[in-house]
Amino acid sequence: MKINGIAYRSVWRPSDDAKSIRIFDQTRFPWEVEVLELRDMGAVAHAIRSMQVRGAPLIGAVAAYGLVFALQDDASDAALEKAAADLIETRPTAINLRWAIERMVKHLRSLPPERRIDAGYVEADAICDEDVQVNEAIGRHGLELIREIWERKGRQGRVNLLTHCNAGWIATVDWGTALAPIYMAHDEGIPVHVWVDETRPRNQGSLLTAWELGSHGVAHTVIADNAGGHYMQAGDVDMVIVGTDRVTAQGDVANKIGTYLKALAAKDNNVPFWVALPSSTIDWRVRDGVKEIPIEERSQNEVLFMTGLTESGDPGRVRIAPKNSPAANPAFDVTPARLVTGLITERGRCDASEEGLKALFPES
Ligand code: MRU
Repeated sequence: MKINGIAYRSVWRPSDDAKSIRIFDQTRFPWEVEVLELRDMGAVAHAIRSMQVRGAPLIGAVAAYGLVFALQDDASDAALEKAAADLIETRPTAINLRWAIERMVKHLRSLPPERRIDAGYVEADAICDEDVQVNEAIGRHGLELIREIWERKGRQGRVNLLTHCNAGWIATVDWGTALAPIYMAHDEGIPVHVWVDETRPRNQGSLLTAWELGSHGVAHTVIADNAGGHYMQAGDVDMVIVGTDRVTAQGDVANKIGTYLKALAAKDNNVPFWVALPSSTIDWRVRDGVKEIPIEERSQNEVLFMTGLTESGDPGRVRIAPKNSPAANPAFDVTPARLVTGLITERGRCDASEEGLKALFPES
């Protein structure tokens, strides 16, 4: 997608320095577009932990390069396993991270150590290229849903969508998952409007999704996290569409904290609740998401402080709770499959159920 008219991916290898990667520092959006250069595994692990890069598919892609960087000094089996374990640990809920690292390890272990670095770059590049293709396909399948709504409305008014967190192009290598169909609908002239949940505590909605949509010219309104149910009751939401960090074999969906409450409100108001995901987000090893998906607990300071533009025009942080009040900060929650209308994958749509997933992915 484009920033100031220039097309970018969210991670790339510069042609003049192929042994490093570039990412956007997502902690600086929307105030600054700052490009960071990463060339060792420590920097990659830090970027993932501190959420300079974030979004399940992008974390996986960046971690794949991190694994290659780790082999520069020692490409032995032991070094490979150790780096893989360290990277997987950086963020526990997003399964794409483990998926990408396991794919890299499987491929590299089959090669002699002296061939692992070059082959690693090729494989990490392939993960990135595939992510772009997969998200484009998700976009096309999701676009059909938006078209159906637009036709049902007699091509009158606008299609109102609601999204939570940021599942846009900067959360993937390109296109995004939940936002891909929205970009495509907008590009073909369907008047879409997006209710953007601010997504406390880190505000990925108001800071990142609103910036992405605005940059692409998509009509949107930032709302407080608690406002979605109100707009659903008023008939102002035609569809909820979100991304996910992990989907279980029975179709339970882990996504940014607060997603579950949106799904409950959607159910109560007969609003379709769709989840967009690449198949790399499916964790076939777990079934019951509430019991089995580890939920990342992040620093309480993310809840106790808010980041924004201060009156002086510079980004800054303010405390929003009494000095001695503690906070809890689960970063994700699990929406049970029964609340999910369906899943949008690169192979098409399916029910959020074991049967639905198996029908699309029989090989799994
Ligand atoms: O904590 P984050 O910002 O990495 O969380 C991101 C999300 O919850 C996204 O919805 C999810 O990763 C899907 S991104 C295509």
